[in-house]
Amino acid sequence: MSGWTEGYVGGIDYIRAVYRDWSPALLRFALTLRGWRPPAALTDGRFTMAEPGCGHGLTTALLAGAHPAARFEATDFNPSHIAGARRLADDAGLTNAVFLEESFADEARRQGAPAPMLDVVALHGVWSWVSAANRAILLDTLRRRLKPGGVVFVSYNALPGTLAHMPLRRILVERCAEGDGPLPERIERAVAFAARMAAQGGGWFANTDGVAERIEQLRHKSANYIAHEYLNGDWTAFYHADVVRELAGAKLEFAGAAVPMEQLDDLTLSAAQRALAAEARDPAQAETLRDVMTNRSFRRDLFVKGGERLSAAERRALLGASRFVLLVAPDDLPEVASTPVGRLSFASALYRPLGEALAEGPQSLDALLARPELAAQGEEAVLRALVLLTSLALAAPAMPEAGRTDRQAQADRFNGAVLERHRYGDTPGQLASPLLGAGVAVSRIEALFLLADRLGEEPAAFAWRHLSADGITLGRDGERCEGDEANRAELARRHARFGEGRRPLLAGLGVR
Ligand SMILES: C[S@@+](CC[C@H](N)C(=O)[O-])C[C@H]1O[C@@H](n2cnc3c(N)ncnc32)[C@H](O)[C@@H]1O
Repeated sequence: MSGWTEGYVGGIDYIRAVYRDWSPALLRFALTLRGWRPPAALTDGRFTMAEPGCGHGLTTALLAGAHPAARFEATDFNPSHIAGARRLADDAGLTNAVFLEESFADEARRQGAPAPMLDVVALHGVWSWVSAANRAILLDTLRRRLKPGGVVFVSYNALPGTLAHMPLRRILVERCAEGDGPLPERIERAVAFAARMAAQGGGWFANTDGVAERIEQLRHKSANYIAHEYLNGDWTAFYHADVVRELAGAKLEFAGAAVPMEQLDDLTLSAAQRALAAEARDPAQAETLRDVMTNRSFRRDLFVKGGERLSAAERRALLGASRFVLLVAPDDLPEVASTPVGRLSFASALYRPLGEALAEGPQSLDALLARPELAAQGEEAVLRALVLLTSLALAAPAMPEAGRTDRQAQADRFNGAVLERHRYGDTPGQLASPLLGAGVAVSRIEALFLLADRLGEEPAAFAWRHLSADGITLGRDGERCEGDEANRAELARRHARFGEGRRPLLAGLGVR
């Protein structure tokens, strides 16, 4: 499988995952928070978006399923990724997305009609995992095809946090290169070997926090994930300031963290640390110092080309008009959330009325602040709560109401194809929400319940037919359900609970 892979790991597909980080309403919120005018296309839904190195293309397919007026281009040089993405697009009747089996260099050499200009480019899981030559090609694509005002989402392994992973990667690469047999088996042996080394302690293991835990986590990760994370010929961690310098070559400027919560310095830095960061000579250096002080190992950044600054009043007006929706029942909002930046507590005086208000349906920040119990908390506190809830996927920004009918029709069709897939497995595990313009996670059982309804089948019997065909049995209170009847009864019980909780929530998001 070598040759066309250009040092990228071959012979093993990437994991099937959907990412929310560059969904339009979230991009819009993250940009506005940082005082950038979001591209108008993100509001009216008529944007063009590309995802080079799209893997199985599930994120692009899902966004295409939620945004009929937008145009999508997803490319990957791995033919099996593209074959699967096209099958989903065909099944779902997506006419607004193309999935191309192309390397980054092929895109640059593309003949014929000029390639469409782009509002958004998503580079997830790409920048750190490809060669400098391929990054230069991607940079050229951005230079040629990103519209003025366009946005780039880019994720990468960051320094200094990634330093702690480097010897582990080395051990895995060298052990996997040894011996023969299928790659997944070699990966399993390599991880077991690293675990045996860690068990001896001492040296690097004793002097680096979290290594033993990291290796233990890898034991539970799929070979597909480990191969694509660690085994590429190229694997580069970057200081943020160096990424800023590289992307400046395509006239791009750092706009802010894509995860809104990561824009809040006071979550992770003490006042003294913030003062030190403020001594930096420019924003890129300041951000890099923050990474040093927080030992960041992964970044999800937004860049803009010719981004326009909002005045304070415009920023306030745009935020005030932004609508938000709750993604869990208000009673399921946690009192404390464990996050990458530590434990956060959700004070009930703020979160209870906020959760109840959002559970009524999409609410703008202004509408929330018109409620006395939330007004009493103060605007900054309510906005901050929305930043935290959206970052933790407990809430989400919604798309504007305009275009909702078309989005609903497209999402219904797309979701029909996605639900059909859950007869035979649990991917993609997300359905398109026309309200959010983004995905909503569903379990296989929930998907089977929704599909049964669409087909007019009895839900418990329908779900059991498919689960039992895969040898799955259910559990209840720590006990296995034995036999068809017990499993069907358990599914009937779960269906009733689904009908009371999750189902109305999904319906509120336009997922049915
Ligand atoms: C880690 S995966 C990320 C997939 C996707 N963006 C996501 O977030 O799920 C990186 C993908 O880039 C593709 N890739 C790597 N080098 C490439 C190249 N030179 N041209 C095209 N695709 C490439 C790989 O096949 C792989 O599917």
